Amino acid sequence: MLHEQIIMRAMEAKDILRVAEICTFARRMGFWGILSDNHLFVDSSVPHYVGYFERTIKHEAWQIFVHEENGIVVGFMTVSSCDEEKGCLQIIQFYVEPALQGGGIGSRMMRFCKQKATLDGYNKICLWVLEKNAAAIGFYETKGFNADGARRTRKYGDLEAVQMKYTIAV
Ligand SMILES: CC(C)(COP(=O)(O)OP(=O)(O)OC[C@H]1O[C@@H](n2cnc3c(N)ncnc32)[C@H](O)[C@@H]1OP(=O)(O)O)[C@@H](O)C(=O)NCCC(=O)NCCS
Repeated sequence: MLHEQIIMRAMEAKDILRVAEICTFARRMGFWGILSDNHLFVDSSVPHYVGYFERTIKHEAWQIFVHEENGIVVGFMTVSSCDEEKGCLQIIQFYVEPALQGGGIGSRMMRFCKQKATLDGYNKICLWVLEKNAAAIGFYETKGFNADGARRTRKYGDLEAVQMKYTIAV
C-alpha cells in the first residue's frame, strides 16, 4: 500500500464494519493457539464485533481512533483513563489489519498514542497483554514498554488466560 495520505482520527459510525473486520481477523491471527478456537472462530465474528462497536462508540469514557491510509481504515486503537491509576492512559485495544502487519502502521499508531497522552496531560501509558502473545510483547518492548510485574486472569469464552501489565512513562 502506498503511504500517500495517512491520518489518525476519531472513529465514526461509518467505520464500524471495517473496525469490526480488523478486530475479528487480527484477533484470530494474533491469538490463534492462545485462546480457544471456539472463542476465536465461533463467538468472535464480524457481526459480533459490529454490535460491540455500535455500543462501544457511545461509551463516553472510551476513545477509539482509526488509522486511515488513502481513505482505508487499516488499524485502530481504543484508549481510556486508567481506572486504577491517576495520570495514566490505558490502551484497551490495539489492532492492525493482518494483511498489513509488519509495515509500520502499529508504530505510527503508537507514536500518535504517546503524543496524545502527553497533550492530554498523562505521564504514563499502560496496557494488558496476553502473556503468550510474544509478537505483541515484542512490539511493545521495541516501543519502550516494560512489564511492571502485575498479572491478571481473564475469561475468554470457555478458557481463562493470563495477561501481564506493561507500562511506559511519557
Ligand atoms: C502488535 C501489532 C499491533 C504491531 O503492529 P505492526 O504494524 O505489525 O508493527 P510495526 O510494523 O509498526 O512494527 C513495529 C516494531 O515492532 C517490532 N515487532 C513486530 N512484531 C514483532 C515480534 N513478533 N517480535 C519482536 N518485535 C516485533 C518490529 O520489529 C518493529 O520494530 P522497529 O520499529 O524497531 O522496526 C500488530 O502486529 C497486531 O495488530 N497484532 C495482532 C493483534 C495484537 O496482538 N494486538 C495487541 C493486543 S494487546
